[in-house]
Amino acid sequence: MKPMIKVALPKGRLGERVYGLFERAGCGCGETMESSRKLVFENSEEGVCFFWVKPSDVAIYVEHGAADIGIAGLDILLEQGPDVFELKDLGLGKCRMVVAGKKGALALTGRTLRVATKFPNIAKRHYAEQSREIEIIRLNGSIELAPIVNLSDVIVDLVETGKTLKENALEVLEDVTQISARLIANKASFRFETQRIERLCAMLDSAGPHKD
Ligand code: PRP
Repeated sequence: MKPMIKVALPKGRLGERVYGLFERAGCGCGETMESSRKLVFENSEEGVCFFWVKPSDVAIYVEHGAADIGIAGLDILLEQGPDVFELKDLGLGKCRMVVAGKKGALALTGRTLRVATKFPNIAKRHYAEQSREIEIIRLNGSIELAPIVNLSDVIVDLVETGKTLKENALEVLEDVTQISARLIANKASFRFETQRIERLCAMLDSAGPHKD
C-alpha cells in the first residue's frame, strides 16, 4: 500500500475552512475534528492523513518532511522563509500586514523607531527598504498594547477587519503587504508524489470557491 499523504492543517478557523474544502472534495475523515483532542486523522481509503498544528508551526512540519503538504499564511512564509514549494494561493484567510500606531507616530525623528511585532524579519526588511533605523521589540500577542503603553512607537502586525486597531485608537500608517493562505509542499515529497499531490490540489480547486 502507498504511504499516506500527510497534510499539516493550521489549528483554528482557517484550518477548519481548509479541512472543509478537503471534506467537500471527498477526502474527509468522517469524524468531528473540532470537538476532538486528537491531533491526527486518517482517511485510509483516500490515503490522506491530517495533522492539526499551531499555524506558525505548519511550515516547520512541511520543511522537515513530517508533513508532505500544509496550509500556511503568507505572513508565516515571509517571516520564516522555509525551504518548501509554494503550490497555490488558496485565496482564504485574506488580511493585510501593516505598520500601525497612534496618528503621527512615524513622523518621530531624532531617535530610533521602536517597532513591536511578532514578525521581526518582515519588519526589518520593510524598514531596510526605507533605510530607516529601527529597534525591534519582539512580542507574542496583543501587539496593539505596545504603542498604547509606550513600549513601542509603532507595530508591524496583521489587520483583518480593523476592529482591534479602531477599539484601541490606533490607525494604519503604512501598508507592508497583502496576506492569504498558501498551499505548500515538502520539496522531496513533491518530487516523489507529484501526481498524488497535484490530484489533491485539483480536488481542492473543484471544491472551491476559495473566497473569504
Ligand atoms: C490578530 C492580529 C491583530 C488582530 C487583527 O491577532 O495580531 O491583533 O488579529 O484582527 P482585526 O483587524 O479583525 O481586529 P490574534 O487574534 O491572532 O491574536 P494575538 O493578539 O495573539 O496576535
